[in-house]
Amino acid sequence: MANTLLAIDELDVAFTIGGKQYPALRQLSFEVREKERVGIVGESGCGKSLTSLSVMGLLPESAAITRGQISLAGKTLSAGLREEWHSTRGRQVAMIFQDPMTALNPLMPVGKQIAEMALTHLAVTRKEAKQMALEMMAKVGLSRIEQLYGEYPHRLSGGMMQRMMIAMALICQPKLLIADEPTTALDVTIQAQILALLREMNRSTGTAMLFISHDLGVIREVCERVIVMYAGFIVEDAPVQDILENPKHPYTAALLQALPSVEKRGQALYTIPGRVPPLTERGGGCPFAGRCPRAFGICHTITPELDTGMDGHRVRCHLYVEGRLCG
Ligand SMILES: Nc1ncnc2c1ncn2[C@@H]1O[C@H](COP(=O)(O)OP(=O)(O)OP(=O)(O)O)[C@@H](O)[C@H]1O
Ligand SMILES: [Mg+2]
Repeated sequence: MANTLLAIDELDVAFTIGGKQYPALRQLSFEVREKERVGIVGESGCGKSLTSLSVMGLLPESAAITRGQISLAGKTLSAGLREEWHSTRGRQVAMIFQDPMTALNPLMPVGKQIAEMALTHLAVTRKEAKQMALEMMAKVGLSRIEQLYGEYPHRLSGGMMQRMMIAMALICQPKLLIADEPTTALDVTIQAQILALLREMNRSTGTAMLFISHDLGVIREVCERVIVMYAGFIVEDAPVQDILENPKHPYTAALLQALPSVEKRGQALYTIPGRVPPLTERGGGCPFAGRCPRAFGICHTITPELDTGMDGHRVRCHLYVEGRLCG
């Protein structure tokens, strides 16, 4: 089995708002192995982006790691050490965002921005950096690359821009690529192309991927394993096929039910009643209890442990003890 690349261990992240602390990530523990493609799914506000920002060392000023640690390729970040992380994580992790415009400099040609990335992080000359950028642009399926190299960001379509972002992220050969909703802003055809490209890049470069989406249908296309988050907690973690065929947590089951499919064509699409509670309204008990059709007594008072079944399928739900259904 491949080595562990990223290990997050009992991580708590909290926001300080008006002098009070509000936990946003709770007891977060998971691993990504070398070359593995792991998805994180959950509705808006579940903590997906905070998870990726924690790994990148890019948490907002008002947030901090209050407990636990993150290890990446053997280097460890723990509470209070945020400054150091930027240098230690080096070019091991790269990230692509939902909106490439926020990550690109509008005043610099895109090709040059890719070359700058190589120039900053690798021991290469300006000429070599440009050559690398052109090669990377070709690899991510862009054509007319010489001309495109000098083009400014606003001249590119959403799909081209996202390809550019992937080229920029991969030029320094990171061990881990974090993609936070990279296709949400794109139309379906372009989305499918970008997903195929990410899979292909993972295969050819061996870069592991942490792929974040609110859409289980998209995760299914790209990932081998999926982590389901709800209100800052991991509620389920298993191979994608397992989750699709045998969802254990009622929240995962609800996400699946809300997924459009050919069989459901023509039917009104199911939506999960209620909403993810905001940070200020999160109490004890199971985070999903308030919306769960199967909640019973202790669900409202005791937070279930994240239990690992015999098959490695993890679930945080009082209905399961040691992987067996008991309720
Ligand atoms: N700068 C901030 N100040 C206060 N609260 C924040 C801030 N950023 C995020 N939060 C809160 O932290 C929680 C997790 O946010 P996060 O952005 O990780 O959600 P997400 O799962 O990425 O959602 P989305 O699907 O909308 O991107 C949410 O309740 C959000 O309101
Ligand atoms: Mg987000």
